[in-house]
Amino acid sequence: MSAAARFSDPELAMTDASAVPILSSRGLAKTFRVGGADVVALQGVDLDIRRGEFVSFVGPSGCGKSTFLNMVAGLLPATAGTAHLAGDPIREPSRRVGFMFQSAVLLPWRSVLSNVLMPAEVYGLDPASLREKARAVIASVGLAGFEDAYPRQLSGGMQQRVALARVLTYEPEVLLMDEPFGALDEFTRETMNIELMRISQAAGITVLFVTHNIGEAVFMADRVVVMTPRPGKVSGIVDVGLARPRTVQTMRQPAYSDLVFEVRRLLGGNHGES
Ligand SMILES: Nc1ncnc2c1ncn2[C@@H]1O[C@H](COP(=O)(O)OP(=O)(O)O)[C@@H](O)[C@H]1O
Ligand SMILES: [Mg+2]
Repeated sequence: MSAAARFSDPELAMTDASAVPILSSRGLAKTFRVGGADVVALQGVDLDIRRGEFVSFVGPSGCGKSTFLNMVAGLLPATAGTAHLAGDPIREPSRRVGFMFQSAVLLPWRSVLSNVLMPAEVYGLDPASLREKARAVIASVGLAGFEDAYPRQLSGGMQQRVALARVLTYEPEVLLMDEPFGALDEFTRETMNIELMRISQAAGITVLFVTHNIGEAVFMADRVVVMTPRPGKVSGIVDVGLARPRTVQTMRQPAYSDLVFEVRRLLGGNHGES
């Protein structure tokens, strides 16, 4: 076989592509200038995230978790360092990276379906061509029958489901989630978490999931990135080897408690210890 033929072998190409981290950062840092003073939000973050991985981020408030996601999303320029998406430098927001916040940010005068189709206009796609896809995704997040409802007719949890459908319709490779269910009651949050794992696994989406709930961070993730207080750095990374699919029963396993304890230890302090 000639070299040219070997390099065009689709299987080889796939192997090569999967060897490149879907996301990588080197020395990623951000300093904000606030009223003449420098606030170092994030310092030298080195991270490689594999395609399809679910990575949780925990750390004290103000340690730069949102700043990190914003830079990876291409919404905020770094002060130093680099971030790459599948080997390409991240310079601006891209459809390949979806973002979901604590608030659903829905337009109140638009129906569920119309809210889900809204990014199509931003991306220069024809919304009509995406209607069937959007309906299927709305059904997959448990909202079949609510396509024509308005946000005010939905609970907070249902509104977050709409936000999830809105981001999934555009098939992002990476989903950035900044405390996405933090405003929901605990029972709803747990249900949403389990559905998010099911959906992201089925679609092979890479998820970066920021939460201040240590138990939730472990429950969801393949790895938990623990950050230090500001200026944020990576204090440690915990591998979570718990089997999937994870259920409420997962939280009863001693291995789960051990992992939660390990994350607490990395966070420093003596949370929960007497
Ligand atoms: N746009 C901004 N301008 C100035 N300071 C900011 C800005 N965004 C964040 N910061 C500061 O950067 C630090 C990290 O913030 P953030 O990334 O929101 O932390 P986290 O999400 O971990 O709570 C904080 O001290 C915050 O006040
Ligand atoms: Mg934040």
